[in-house]
Amino acid sequence: MSKVRPRSYYLRSFGCQMNEHDSERIAGLLEEMGFAPTAAPEDADLLVYNTCSIREKADTRLAGHLGTARRLKREKPSRLVVVAGCLAQSRRDEFFVDFPFVDVLVGPQSLHELPSLLEERLSDGVRVGAFAETTTRWSAELPRVKMSGPCAWVQVVAGCSNFCTYCIVPSVRGPEASRSAANIMAEVVALADRGVREITLLGQNVNAYGREPSFAGTESFADLLRTACRVRGIERIRFMTSHPKDMSHGLVDVIAAPNQVCEHVHLPVQSGSDRILGAMNRRYDRAAYVDLVGRLHRSVPDLALTTDLIVGFPGETEEDFQETLSLVEECRFDGAFTFIYSPRRGTAAAAMPGRPEADVAEDRMTRLVEVVQRLGRERNEAMIGRTVEVMVERASKHAAGEVMGRTRGHKPVNFPSAAAPGDLVLVELLEATSTSFRGWEAR
Ligand code: 5AD
Ligand code: SF4
Repeated sequence: MSKVRPRSYYLRSFGCQMNEHDSERIAGLLEEMGFAPTAAPEDADLLVYNTCSIREKADTRLAGHLGTARRLKREKPSRLVVVAGCLAQSRRDEFFVDFPFVDVLVGPQSLHELPSLLEERLSDGVRVGAFAETTTRWSAELPRVKMSGPCAWVQVVAGCSNFCTYCIVPSVRGPEASRSAANIMAEVVALADRGVREITLLGQNVNAYGREPSFAGTESFADLLRTACRVRGIERIRFMTSHPKDMSHGLVDVIAAPNQVCEHVHLPVQSGSDRILGAMNRRYDRAAYVDLVGRLHRSVPDLALTTDLIVGFPGETEEDFQETLSLVEECRFDGAFTFIYSPRRGTAAAAMPGRPEADVAEDRMTRLVEVVQRLGRERNEAMIGRTVEVMVERASKHAAGEVMGRTRGHKPVNFPSAAAPGDLVLVELLEATSTSFRGWEAR
């Protein structure tokens, strides 16, 4: 093992927003240690893969990247390979055996230990890992790389205590823990001072903020949003993900009020069948969900509602699937992330019988996506001709002289403009797809 200190790093993320948020902190820690980022793994002395374990697809993608890492390490043995995140936590026992070229493993609750793990690896030559089960140090409090753009994530809840039967998150990220409101607000103020205009409060179950028995504060999630509205410079506030069972009246009121909280709720429903919702341990039924959606639409007229849906859950019949399709029609979602059920080791659903065959699940997925896209297009076409507030995020990737921004409902709009990132512009919507718009600046 060479003791030459590596100087450049390559970082690749595989997961959700929480995983991306953790990656900003991994980058911050490494840059504080004197590493510089590189865009290509071939140019890096340190390769870091921040992994996800939520579905099997993420494992498969990682395997390909680790193949590259093995080759690069063979070419230059002083290179270090770090696997961070959820898969490092959930597969720690096999990782060093299956991937002997990995130097450091670090779970999502132990990111702050990365610098000392790297030092240890370099000085003692042993392969090392850290895997705290619960959140004791907030990754939000670790250094963060300089962000580009006007938007930033702010973590408010870590972990999850819900144990939906398909989900590995509670066993990997530990029980729900809410960050203190004072701490969160200090971060929001600091972000506003650095030019951030939009924040997204982040947690696996954000609207359960402050509900765990060990929480030292008294604030609810609605209180937290109201306090964030008082921070000068913050023009827009978003949050995700919300659980339907924790959607309080107070929270609906804050979304409806004329303030910076955007009229967008991401509210995963997962299935339209009561039998499947029960087997998933979601703790609401179809009627309660539809009721909640009705209440949201009545209180917040311009609401954009998005969801997550799973097909192919163990025991799902064609009738159950039809109920998912009819629920999607009934709720008229603006958009949905759709997933084929993927068994995760150690979860209750992994032991349940009656998982539909792969071709059946794929066929249901295709039919579901068709409905989701049609409804998205219809909802967006109904907005053509309207003039809406758009926050510019960046120059367009497709056309010179154009920018990409988002509506308050989080829908992307491309339009010709000289406006800068962070500017709020009134835009007339001219054309729509199922997920985005084209427009021009209203004069
Ligand atoms: N299989 C398929 N989808 C899953 N999700 C979580 N766990 C699984 C799984 N085992 C989906 C859910 C959740 C989203 C983040 O990922 O829809 O809301
Ligand atoms: Fe997983 Fe359910 Fe928690 Fe979401 S609410 S992270 S799906 S256990």
